[in-house]
Amino acid sequence: MVQLIINGAPKNIDIDPDTPLLWAVREHLKLTGTKFGCGVSLCGACTVHMDGEPVRSCVTTLAAAEGKSVTTIEGIAEPDGTLHKVQEAWIKHQVPQCGYCQSGQIMSAVALLESTPNPTDADIDAAMSGNVCRCGMYGRIKAAIKTAAQEV
Ligand code: FES
Ligand code: FES
Repeated sequence: MVQLIINGAPKNIDIDPDTPLLWAVREHLKLTGTKFGCGVSLCGACTVHMDGEPVRSCVTTLAAAEGKSVTTIEGIAEPDGTLHKVQEAWIKHQVPQCGYCQSGQIMSAVALLESTPNPTDADIDAAMSGNVCRCGMYGRIKAAIKTAAQEV
């Protein structure tokens, strides 16, 4: 039994603690916004936050999340449904194409702005470099991050 907090709610998950956190989130908790891309920490599609830090849930075990607070894409909007400023900026800039990478992109962007509210281009490049977008929406991603930063 692994105890953790998911999107603000305590959860007990009774599966093998060596299970990747991504599997626990998607298959056990049915939070399917977090995506499985490469499975080997190379694409960022599976990015979630653990105690506020972005982590690759495909290579993070459920055991590593014991007692921690995990936030997924489903948990960044306000409880009343008000979108996170990063989500609003993503809509404004019409960032997604196929959309597959986008929850990971947004989770990395949210983490960046929480640690660096006014990021430089270099800060954005460094924080987002591990998030691959096969549709090549990098320009819009950067523009949306800058818009969200202005709304701090
Ligand atoms: S699925 Fe985890 S980094 Fe690609
Ligand atoms: S929007 Fe298609 S992979 Fe990023």
